[in-house]
Amino acid sequence: MSAVESKFNPKDMQFRYLGPTGLKVSVLSLGGWLTYGGTEKGNIVKECLETAFNNGINFFDTAEVYANGQCEIEMGQALKELAWPRDEYVLSTKVFFGTGRKEPNTRGLSRKHVVEGLKSCLQRMQQPYVDIVLAHRPDVGTPMKEIVEGFTQCIRNLNLAYYWGTSEWSATQIMEATQIAEKYNLIAPIAEQPQYNAFHRQRFEVEYAPLFEQFQYGTTIWSPLASGLLTGKYNDGIPEDSRFSKNKSFFEGTIASLQSEEGKAKIAKVRKLTEIAEKLGGNVTQLSLAWCVKNPNVSTVILGATKTKQIEDNVAALKLLPKLTDDVMEEIEKILGNKPDPPNAFNRQR
Ligand SMILES: NC(=O)c1ccc[n+]([C@@H]2O[C@H](COP(=O)([O-])OP(=O)(O)OC[C@H]3O[C@@H](n4cnc5c(N)ncnc54)[C@H](OP(=O)(O)O)[C@@H]3O)[C@@H](O)[C@H]2O)c1
Repeated sequence: MSAVESKFNPKDMQFRYLGPTGLKVSVLSLGGWLTYGGTEKGNIVKECLETAFNNGINFFDTAEVYANGQCEIEMGQALKELAWPRDEYVLSTKVFFGTGRKEPNTRGLSRKHVVEGLKSCLQRMQQPYVDIVLAHRPDVGTPMKEIVEGFTQCIRNLNLAYYWGTSEWSATQIMEATQIAEKYNLIAPIAEQPQYNAFHRQRFEVEYAPLFEQFQYGTTIWSPLASGLLTGKYNDGIPEDSRFSKNKSFFEGTIASLQSEEGKAKIAKVRKLTEIAEKLGGNVTQLSLAWCVKNPNVSTVILGATKTKQIEDNVAALKLLPKLTDDVMEEIEKILGNKPDPPNAFNRQR
């Protein structure tokens, strides 16, 4: 067998262990929600993946529901054409929402859909396995033991994945799944995929804190730029070639909220953050991403991008990271004014 020729150059990227596992992911990663197979098809998908990889990103994220399976098809095709050695990148997909079909068993987290759903994901992506399969939401209609068994079966018996995780599960649900796994010698989830950004903090910083402490639970965070709000591109309206414009009905509520007092206050904060970013020699997009990376409980920040230039711009966020001193973080905190209160420990914290 011939030796594998390395294609990956980590450059200035940083890597973190994904939760309690030995798997290393780049602190910036790339996902395809709304973009690949949705608004962006064909060559641009491959160009974005290639730009990411060439800038040290080794982790890519998709889901069965993204563009009703079309995202997996586009990203899978791009990965096939790029032909990187499979051990040089990490791939995740998610099951739960299905692909838009209406049959009762083509969604949810029954053992049947977890296994069949993941098999269909792999077919669409032309991949023999993913590294991580995530439960895209909790399924309150399926017993937790069955859910944990379904993912264990994918990993242990079928070799369809190496790890499994959760997305937008409550801390209680994650604890329950973990305890069931321990009790019945099943495989526990290792990471959560939650929304986390400067405007959306409560669950990550407060509710999940015990998961980080007790299980070193990993996180692959989404919408780090609040869908673009934290780039400053929506400061003066909705530009034509932007996510809010291209997905108007989906973001109807968000667009309307920009006119509210709360929305205006957010834009005002983006403007103030822009001043800090510029003082540090970057832009507000990079500052917002670096702010996420600064949190040690973030394993990886999943970027979204419709253009290769955005990926190049966003990777430069890592240059701002060492400039986020305690003083700068304090300045940012004052602008945001939304630091969640920890639960009252009644002076019993260690
Ligand atoms: N588990 C879940 O429930 C869940 C939910 C959502 C997302 N996700 C995952 O997280 C990933 C990232 O989420 P997201 O796409 O919402 O992230 P985001 O970073 O909040 O938004 C990305 C969008 O912002 C704009 N943008 C990015 N960089 C920019 C730059 N430098 N300059 C100007 N505009 C820029 C682009 O949109 P335009 O160019 O179109 O304006 C881009 O598609 C998804 O792809 C998906 O993999 C998971």
